[in-house]
Amino acid sequence: MSKRILTGIQPSGTLHIGNYFGAMRPAISLQDSGNECILFIANYHAMTSMPAPEDLRQRTFQVAVDFIAAGLDTTKTIFFRQSDVPQVQELAWILSCLCPMGLLERCHSYKDKLAHGLEANHGLFAYPALMAADILLYKSQLVPVGKDQKQHLEVTRDLAIRFNNHYGEILVVPDAYINENVAVIPGLDGQKMSKSYNNTIELFGEGKPIRKKFMSIKTDCTPMGEPMNPDTCSVFGLYKLMATQEEQDAMRKNYLENPEYGYGHAKVQLFEKYTEFFAPMRERRRELMANPAQVEDILQDGASRARKIAEATMAEVRAAVGL
Ligand code: TRP
Repeated sequence: MSKRILTGIQPSGTLHIGNYFGAMRPAISLQDSGNECILFIANYHAMTSMPAPEDLRQRTFQVAVDFIAAGLDTTKTIFFRQSDVPQVQELAWILSCLCPMGLLERCHSYKDKLAHGLEANHGLFAYPALMAADILLYKSQLVPVGKDQKQHLEVTRDLAIRFNNHYGEILVVPDAYINENVAVIPGLDGQKMSKSYNNTIELFGEGKPIRKKFMSIKTDCTPMGEPMNPDTCSVFGLYKLMATQEEQDAMRKNYLENPEYGYGHAKVQLFEKYTEFFAPMRERRRELMANPAQVEDILQDGASRARKIAEATMAEVRAAVGL
């Protein structure tokens, strides 16, 4: 049976290949799973860190372009900006009034900020209630979640159950969707690729600076002429994500058997593979960047489809709560 799957993405700026293989590609591939897919850019959530207006606008647009360039089919997936469906704020308020303070006080995103001595604003505190509204507004059944968002999904389920107990069975209690085969993508230093470790390779990088990055990937000190271990090597780990099985086998053979083959050779091969692998997306991205009106049309079309679902839910919700 087809289910409704919803994903929200933060407009966090320049994407890296860890984002692509770890999050974007799995999210995009859902469009071929026979389910009904909804994907939105969480620009209201991004406001909790008070970005400069032009920066927020730019990042939101950039994420839209990058997802479309990376293969999101917006005829299959409903794709929009969160703020283009303001009904979500109305539901967030209604859920807030059902939401015990303790539930939000226990949430990590808020607690972490306080623990670091930072000043949390009300938006950050209420973040999980808005996220619950995102999910419940569309009566989503499945929500793909990584570790960091599990708790927020628990809050969502809790609020849906409270709402239904209090006002009648209207909201759908969503389940987490755990994708088992999402690989950990190694970064330049061998740790998981992440912005916070400063070890990333841009998704749409080009030319010398990006080549330099590939050449700087950390490897072990196996001397030239000795067999190298592909299975612990970040260069091979990254190559595997982009290369065909045959190409992988050939590199593996070089690692193990070719005395003339060293990490320098592997890095050059990896860089060339990266350039080739992302070339069609890079091209599509260039076209989209040159044509912002087309991107805006796509987002507006998505928003109008999303608003239809949202308005239907809100009509039921308003009646049930007495508005
Ligand atoms: N909080 C999510 C993140 O930081 C983004 C998000 C906002 C989201 N609303 C959502 C994810 C609803 C899933 C469902 O990644």
